[in-house]
Amino acid sequence: MEGKELILTRKSVRSFKDTPIEDGKIELLMRAAMAGPSAMNKQPWEFYVIKSEEMKAAVNKAIPFGKYKSPIVIIACIKEANAVPVAHDLVNCDLGAASENILLMAHELGLGAVWCAIYPTKAFMKAVKKSINMPVGLTPYSAIYVGYPSDDDKSKVKDKYDTKKVRII
Ligand SMILES: Cc1cc2nc3c(=O)[nH]c(=O)nc-3n(C[C@H](O)[C@H](O)[C@H](O)COP(=O)(O)O)c2cc1C
Repeated sequence: MEGKELILTRKSVRSFKDTPIEDGKIELLMRAAMAGPSAMNKQPWEFYVIKSEEMKAAVNKAIPFGKYKSPIVIIACIKEANAVPVAHDLVNCDLGAASENILLMAHELGLGAVWCAIYPTKAFMKAVKKSINMPVGLTPYSAIYVGYPSDDDKSKVKDKYDTKKVRII
């Protein structure tokens, strides 16, 4: 798939097969995440790839709007030590770019994925952190459910292009 088609046909997938994801594909998802841009190239991130059913259940208990069943759940985390001190909010941009890259790579690999927000809601951040015993210095940012789309997956590509949202001056 070419870049433009890849970007324009990505969609959120929320229903998955049990089929495990190959290790090589998991590495590509992580490579895509870390290929993202970051302010001052601080790369203020670490990622959990959760395969354990027990841990996935713990995360799902902590997240109210996610709770999907997928072979892996990626938790993109802010590595606080690498945040730009005078502009901490930039981590939101950095982790957003990394999360989107994971979605795009998943699509390229024939996988489906959905991004569920953890950051910036303090209650979700605290609950997810506790659910997987995350060490001090890491803050959970997004939970990305990834797997092969189920045969009855109903997700559709939405054409969200709206010329009224573009101001060419
Ligand atoms: C920051 C963020 C938070 C999101 N949180 C959730 C969520 O909690 N649960 C969910 O099912 N989808 C979540 N989504 C996915 C959006 O619902 C989805 O991207 C949107 O409906 C557009 O659909 P599309 O991704 O298929 O284009 C989130 C997406 C983003 C970027």
